[in-house]
Amino acid sequence: MEDDLIKPNDLIYLILDTRRRWLVKVEEGREFQTHKGTVKFDDVIGKPFGSVVFSQPYESQGYKFYVLKPLPSDYVIYMSRKTQIIYPEDAGLILMYTGISPGSVVIEAGCGSGALTCILGTYVRPNGHIFSYDVRKQSLRKAKNNVLKAGLSDFVSIEYGDIVIDDLGHENVDSIVLDMPQPWMAIEKVKQYLKLSGTLVSFSPAIEQVKKTTLALRENAFYEINTYELIKRKFQVKSNATHPEVRMIGHTGYMTFARKIQDMKNPYRERKPKQKEYVKLNGMPFRDENGSIIK
Ligand SMILES: C[S@@+](CC[C@H](N)C(=O)[O-])C[C@H]1O[C@@H](n2cnc3c(N)ncnc32)[C@H](O)[C@@H]1O
Repeated sequence: MEDDLIKPNDLIYLILDTRRRWLVKVEEGREFQTHKGTVKFDDVIGKPFGSVVFSQPYESQGYKFYVLKPLPSDYVIYMSRKTQIIYPEDAGLILMYTGISPGSVVIEAGCGSGALTCILGTYVRPNGHIFSYDVRKQSLRKAKNNVLKAGLSDFVSIEYGDIVIDDLGHENVDSIVLDMPQPWMAIEKVKQYLKLSGTLVSFSPAIEQVKKTTLALRENAFYEINTYELIKRKFQVKSNATHPEVRMIGHTGYMTFARKIQDMKNPYRERKPKQKEYVKLNGMPFRDENGSIIK
């Protein structure tokens, strides 16, 4: 219940209407300026999330703002960005199909603006960690800022690192998350960081990237390799005109998932039986036509 009351340093999702909404940090004695008046944080502190606050001066402005607790999807859409970010529905599939959850240890590259990093950081709390790398100083700065703003610094490290060539010194991590232009080039390297049965996901906007990544995953003996795309439709609901919204985002990206498995040849069923060879079902090994076990 205490968590439902707004405190200094909390992030709030301030909503004026469908288009005007902000993710802001509550600072004692300070205020947030909008063109519809000023929201004083002291008016917000101590109120439950979900409350209403009015902009000042009340007489000339007095607009109604809703104060909600931010959802992971809000971090993504309203985070200041310099790179293409991951959309919430794609992040949802990534969480489901990688199994990233409380306690998971994850390597991510590149961090970009840190939108996906913040979502992942939210889910690995309280004892997991995201090690996120990028090669661009600008991305590192932006992502660090966004992680700080989201209050996730204890669960996320943002460092310079080239995932294709650098030895990042990790082992036994639960998941690898790649969102970078040439993910196929990183597959061989990142495999060594991943635990057996661990998951890898690569997010790519173009199908050419998916093909190259899938081939690299096969060459590196990954298993359960599957690619998905999600299409989300939002609905406009009106009393006599309910239908999907006319404009929609037609494409975000493809997500290729894979699992690391023990890379071992089958000594028994390495090849198909030839004619006249037979397979002893309960004893497993192939035998040739003379009954000898094939090595
Ligand atoms: C599309 S952005 C990632 C967006 C991010 N997922 C987000 O939600 O904001 C791709 C990033 O990959 C980084 N990158 C490219 N090659 C890399 C490499 N070899 N190692 C690490 N990062 C790399 C780029 O600098 C860029 O910031």
